[in-house]
Formats: sequence, C-alpha cells, structure tokens
Amino acid sequence: MEIFRTVSSVPATAKRRVLVPTMGALHRGHGELIRIAREAAGSDGEVAVSIFVNPLQFAPGGDFEKYPRPETDDEEFCRSADVDLIFRPSPEEMYASDFSVSVEETSLSNTLCGKSRPGHFRGVCTVVAKLFHILTPDAAVFGEKDFQQLAIIRRMVRDVNFPIEIIGAPTVREADGLACSSRNQYLSQTERQQAPALRAALLEAQRLAAQGERAAPIILDAARKVIATAPLARIDYLELVNAETLQPIESVQPNSLVALAVFFGQTRLIDNIRLP
Ligand code: PAF
Repeated sequence: MEIFRTVSSVPATAKRRVLVPTMGALHRGHGELIRIAREAAGSDGEVAVSIFVNPLQFAPGGDFEKYPRPETDDEEFCRSADVDLIFRPSPEEMYASDFSVSVEETSLSNTLCGKSRPGHFRGVCTVVAKLFHILTPDAAVFGEKDFQQLAIIRRMVRDVNFPIEIIGAPTVREADGLACSSRNQYLSQTERQQAPALRAALLEAQRLAAQGERAAPIILDAARKVIATAPLARIDYLELVNAETLQPIESVQPNSLVALAVFFGQTRLIDNIRLP
C-alpha cells in the first residue's frame, strides 16, 4: 500500500481505479465501502482511499477542529482491508490560500441536511470534484446513510460529465441498529444507549407504510413518538421525501424515503429508510 500526501505525487494508472472518499476515523461502514470498491475494481484493479477532513464542509464553530484524526489506525485499517493507495493531503495542499472557485449543486441541496447546514454540500461537491480530478477514478463508492450526499454527487457527475461510475453502498449498522458513523464516538454512554431509537423510528415508519398507511403526518407522528422514547434526542428534521427530488411529500409514493437528523447533545446523527 502506498501513501501520497501531495497532488503531484499521485500516479496515473492504466488499471481500473475505484475510489472511496473518506474523512478518516475509519470504521466497519468504511470497511464495507472498501470491500465494494475492491469488488468493483476487479482482481486487476486498484482501490484508492482518500482521507481528508474537508474544512469547507464544516460550519464555522462546527466540529472541524475536534473531528477525530487517528492517522496510524486509519493506515492500519486500510492496510488490512487490502487498499492499494491512500491519498492523505493537508488542507494547504488541497486549497490555495486565495482559493475562490467552488462547485455547487442548487436543487437537491436545498432540503434536509442542506437546510440545516448551509454551504455544507458546496463543500462536499467541491472536494469530491477535486478528488475526482486528482485521482481520476473509474468509479467511486459512497454510503447510502448519507443519502442526500449520494444523490447530489450523482447529480454533479451527470451535470458536469465526470466519466465516473457512482456506486451506492448499503448502510452498515451496529448490532442494535444504530448506523455506523465516525460521530458515534462522540456519544456519551447514555446517549449511545438511546441512539438506536432512530432506527426504531424509521422501522416504525416502514411498518406503517407496509400496512398500507400513506399519509405523511400519521407516519411521521408515529416515528416522532418512537424518537421521544429517547429523552436526550432532539429532532433536527424528520421528513417523508421523494427519493429522487428529495422534496417533502404529503403521502407515500412508489419512490419514497423517510430521512432524519437528530441531535444528541452536540452530536448530529442522520439515517434514512425506503418505504414500500
Ligand atoms: O462522506 C464523507 O465522509 C465526506 O462528505 C466526503 C464524501 C469524504 C467528502 O469530504
């Protein structure tokens, strides 16, 4: 496994390269992205992982400074997951001090997380576009837990013609249903005990829809009640949306999704579920 820290040192390759963009603090969820990347690369291909805590996607006063950066553990993780190449630049390597061009998606970014985190997806699109140019992958893998991010990246790739296949990877969960996330480690013991209520709420929404309930207010109310069983949870949003447009809808349609973001203290967790 080779580690590159500068843009100019990243080698071009004739092999099929599949990229897993990450911000490090790698966990089982990333392990699954890497496994899927390996499968997509084929036995002759190459798996590249980028590790970069992207300042552009954090709000001022957000958790950029305290975001975990376990360098050695991440490298070890990648080595044992059979990664071929790590790209781990510094912020100065990625952004010139007078940096003034960014990439912005202007439709899907206006709902859900985009509403509560203005500028977040501009930061994500900008860094992902840069990683695509630097590493020139044939394909890239993103997790479905960040459903909105995945939809926005797909839109960016379509709209600016990146010749890159985008592969969505199912959410990996802890045994109690909590979606794996680097931010789970911020949770106190009590918050961690209560956090599976998010998955339980989404499953309740799915159960109601499977029974034939179509009305958003009824489905979302039921989910809200489950979240209320976790007294430390504070809902940022809980919405029924069309999975393609990400616009809120009043009743379940063929392509519907319930998405949520919930705070436990300062820690904001997201999750989602498709409805039948
Ligand atoms: O999902 C993430 O970890 C980040 O948003 C990404 C895609 C690596 C861009 O910084």
